[in-house]
Amino acid sequence: MEFVRPTLEHRAAFADWLDDWRGDSYNPYDGVFEIAWTDFDAYISLVERLRIEGSPPGIDVPLDTIWAFEGRKLVGDLFLFYEPMQADNNIGYKVRPSARRRGIATLLTRYGLDRLRERGKTEARLTCREDNIASAAVIEGCGGLRRDDKVTAKGHVMRRYIIPITA
Ligand SMILES: CC(C)(COP(=O)(O)OP(=O)(O)OC[C@H]1O[C@@H](n2cnc3c(N)ncnc32)[C@H](O)[C@@H]1OP(=O)(O)O)[C@@H](O)C(=O)NCCC(=O)NCCS
Repeated sequence: MEFVRPTLEHRAAFADWLDDWRGDSYNPYDGVFEIAWTDFDAYISLVERLRIEGSPPGIDVPLDTIWAFEGRKLVGDLFLFYEPMQADNNIGYKVRPSARRRGIATLLTRYGLDRLRERGKTEARLTCREDNIASAAVIEGCGGLRRDDKVTAKGHVMRRYIIPITA
């Protein structure tokens, strides 16, 4: 597995990745990211801007987006916040529907934990919706310790976790 930052050279791989998501119950690009569905160049510009600035509603700290490739196939996407986004999120991930249950989200999480460790962080904060059993299992499999839940403005119950980062 190769981890890289998104660039314009990944246009074909991204189109193939999007095709895989059509019909999945999870929308990988909504809100500020919705542009990804229709305008690849604009999405890459957004990704680059967010890495440096953060700032749109809900994204209050810089966001480093990392893509995981198996050969030429984009299989996973990692959202890495070096400071916890909205105080609760250092790491987010998504795996293309056809590549699930092969440990890719676990590898993405571990990659994120390594990057945080390099920056001297001693813990990672992660959240998932109460009903996202797959994501909760990934977090717990990576050592996540459950904290108190929170409820979003839209009324969703979110599980909150801390993963201690050991030296
Ligand atoms: C959640 C998600 C990232 C998991 O990706 P994945 O690569 O399939 O996860 P892994 O293969 O690393 O799974 C690790 C463990 O989690 C558990 N798990 C994963 N998917 C599961 C599912 N659908 N149901 C129950 N347990 C599941 C299993 O215990 C699994 O280990 P196993 O396959 O050896 O039994 C993927 O389902 C996804 O992209 N979903 C949509 C986006 C999303 O929900 N992102 C997270 C937002 S918080």
